[in-house]
Amino acid sequence: MILQEEMTILSNVKIAPRVFRMVLQGEMVLDMKVPDQFLHIRVPSPDKVLRRPISISEYDYEAKTCVIIYRVEGPGLADVSQMTPGQKLDVMGPLGNGFDLSIPFPKQKALIIGGGIGTPPLVQLARDIEAMGVAVTVLLGFAQKSAVILESEFAAVASELKIVTDDGSYGRDGNVGVLMDEIDVMAYDAVYACGAAGMLRAVASRTENHPNAFISMEARMACGMGACYACVVHVAGDETGQQALKVCDQGPIFRASEVVI
Ligand code: FES
Repeated sequence: MILQEEMTILSNVKIAPRVFRMVLQGEMVLDMKVPDQFLHIRVPSPDKVLRRPISISEYDYEAKTCVIIYRVEGPGLADVSQMTPGQKLDVMGPLGNGFDLSIPFPKQKALIIGGGIGTPPLVQLARDIEAMGVAVTVLLGFAQKSAVILESEFAAVASELKIVTDDGSYGRDGNVGVLMDEIDVMAYDAVYACGAAGMLRAVASRTENHPNAFISMEARMACGMGACYACVVHVAGDETGQQALKVCDQGPIFRASEVVI
């Protein structure tokens, strides 16, 4: 069910350069059933009419709170970053399909791969499948030390956590492709990835024919509800170029082999 609500901001703090963590409280949290759905938020400026899609990082039914983590890329989210506790944020959601929690099964093992601002929606996923009895390996990549976020959240649930930075200023030197090459990616029962297109392509190329490799796609959006076709991605293997899927309501989660990244 898609709802619109004026959620209450409980906190809004900077956790890395241009990256903010906002805690929201409201009834909508009770409708957040699967990880990596998103909220379509209204920027608090009358001249900015398009909502911004921000993935949901965590939710807590008891407290009716959820966490969104966003990076300021322009004036719209810069305005959001100035909002303070007690203010209301107009949100629509939860939107998108989210990760399918019927895969994997207890005692299986899952590989979670995150890059930069793509890591937040993987927190709830890691937590949920670890609680189901799945052994979770997490590989994270960031540009540099100051951009590293959510390390303690993943460390709390991962049986193994490895971090790389592009410049080697924290963890290993390189990108997550280096870490993937050191393990047998196909030996994991499920693979989940969220990050920049280059990273998702690296995941897709290493999981060809894997039955349960999933990626979370990003796209520019307008309506956020499947009505405007602003967010389409093309279907892999479609030579006509005519087949498209909408990231906002048929995604953002797709099988890694399903779409052109
Ligand atoms: Fe309108 Fe996806 S944003 S169809």
